[in-house]
Amino acid sequence: MQIRFADTRPDGDYALVLPVAGKNRASLDSLGAEKAAAESALGRQRFEGDPRSSAELYLREGDGVRRLLVVGIGEGTSAVDAAEKLGGAITARLLLSGESHAVLDLSALDFDADAAARVALGAALRSWRYDRYRTKLKDKQKPSLKEITIVGASAKAAERWTDRWEPLYRGVAFTRELVTEPANIVYPESFVARVQEALKGSGIEVEVLDGEAMRELGMGALLGVAQGSVRDARLLVLKWNGAAKGVPPVAFVGKGVTFDTGGISIKPAAAMEAMKWDMGGAGAVVGAFLTLAARKAKANVVGICGLVENMPDGNAQRPGDVVTTMSGQTVEVINTDAEGRLVLADAITYVQRNFRPRIIVDLATLTGAILVSLGHEFGGLFTPDDDLANQLLGAGRDTGDKLWRQPLGDAFDKLIDSPIADMKNVGPREGGSITAAQFIQRFVENGTKWAHLDIAGMVWSDKPGDTYDKGATGYGVRLIDRFVEANVEGR
Ligand code: BES
Ligand code: MN
Ligand code: ZN
Repeated sequence: MQIRFADTRPDGDYALVLPVAGKNRASLDSLGAEKAAAESALGRQRFEGDPRSSAELYLREGDGVRRLLVVGIGEGTSAVDAAEKLGGAITARLLLSGESHAVLDLSALDFDADAAARVALGAALRSWRYDRYRTKLKDKQKPSLKEITIVGASAKAAERWTDRWEPLYRGVAFTRELVTEPANIVYPESFVARVQEALKGSGIEVEVLDGEAMRELGMGALLGVAQGSVRDARLLVLKWNGAAKGVPPVAFVGKGVTFDTGGISIKPAAAMEAMKWDMGGAGAVVGAFLTLAARKAKANVVGICGLVENMPDGNAQRPGDVVTTMSGQTVEVINTDAEGRLVLADAITYVQRNFRPRIIVDLATLTGAILVSLGHEFGGLFTPDDDLANQLLGAGRDTGDKLWRQPLGDAFDKLIDSPIADMKNVGPREGGSITAAQFIQRFVENGTKWAHLDIAGMVWSDKPGDTYDKGATGYGVRLIDRFVEANVEGR
C-alpha cells in the first residue's frame, strides 16, 4: 500500500476518513453544511468515538456520493497510543471495501510528526497479507485499497515515516512472510536464501554454517535435532556494525525450527500444522535486522539463528540418547520434542565463543506451558538480571510486544539433573517453561547478561488484532528494535 503525506485534500474520488476523539467531534466541522446530517447519522449508529469504533456514511457531493468513514480514537488517550490503532482501524475497514484511495484528515487533532507517522505505520501493518498461494480469489476478495493520503499532519511526518517507521514495517512484514510460509517452502537452506535475498545491499554481514561446519565445532545438540530430517541444518549469523569498531555487541539468538513434528516423541496430529511457525524466534531476529539496517541503527548487533527441522526417521535421535554440546556439557535427550532448547544451547555457545557479546537475548517458541501461564497476551521473560528485565519490559510496553517476567532459581535448576549426563532436556510437567529456561541458562558463560523470551503464545494469532490480521503477528521485531534504540543507542 502506498502512503503519502499532503498539505491539502486532493481532488477526485476517494473515501474521506475523519478521526473523532470521543464526544469531541471537531473533525466534523470540515463537513460544513453536511455536519448536522452526519452527526445524526452517527447517533443512529450508536457511534461514540471510542477507540477501534468506526461508522460509515455517504455524503452527497456534486452529482455523486463520497464515502465518509469516521473512526473513534477515544477521549484523553495519548496521541501515540491512539495513532497506530487509528491507522489499523482505517485499513481493517477499507482494505476490501472497494475503495482504492483513502484520505485521512488529521487537522483537527494535535498529533505531532511522530504520531502522524505512526498512523501510517498502523495502516501499513494492518494491510499486510500473504496471498501467494491463493490462485482463485474473486475480485471481491482481493484488497482494493491501494493508497492512503494523510493530510493535516506536521511537515516532519513524512520524514519520520520514511526514516523510522517504514523500516520497522518492512522488518515486521519480512518476519510475517517467513512465519507464514509452509515448511515445504521455508526450511533451513531456503530460510537462509530468502534472508540473503532480503538483506542484499543492507550493509548486514551474513555468514552461514552448514551441518558439516557445525559438526566440526562439536554442536552435537543442534545436530541431534536435525539428524532425523533430510534437510541439512544451518546456523545463520548476521552482523550489523552501526557503532564504533570494538564496542562489544548485543546478541539476539532465535529458535528456528522450520517444522517441529516432535521427532520420535511425536506430537499428536491435531493442529500440528501450527509447528510451521516454530521458527518465529529466528524470524523475529532477521526481521529486526532488516529494520535496524534500514534505519541505520547506531549499534553493534549480532543475530544468530539455529535452523533445523525436527523429524522422526530411521536416523532420528531417540529418547535416552546422550549428546555432547559445543560447550562440552552432555545432555540426556529424554524427550525429542524438547528440541528448541537443544538448538539454542549450541547457538548460545557459538555466539559467546565468537563474539563475546555484552548481552544475549534469545527468542523462542519454546514451550506450550507458557501459553498456559500467559495466554496470548504476554511473552514470558526469564532473566536473573533486574536491569535487563526492566529494559526489556520497557521495550515491550513501548511497542505493544508485551512481556511478563517469570522466575528462575536453583530449585528449578535441580529438576533437570540427569543420572547419566550433565543434564536432561526436560523436567517435570509443572513449571515447564521455567525448567526450559534453566536449561538454556546452563549454557550462559561467565556472568554474561542474558534473557530468554518464550514467545510461543505470540507469534501466531487466530484472530485479528489492532495492527495485524489473523495469522503471523511479527511479534518480537518491534521489541528488539526498541530495545536496541533505547538501551544500546540510548534514545
Ligand atoms: N515448539 C514447541 C512449543 C510450542 C507449543 C510452541 C505450542 C507453540 C505452540 C516445543 O518444541 C515443544 O514441543 N515443547 C514441549 C516441551 C515438552 C516436551 C517438555 C511442550 O511444550 O510440550
Ligand atoms: Mn518440540
Ligand atoms: Zn519446537
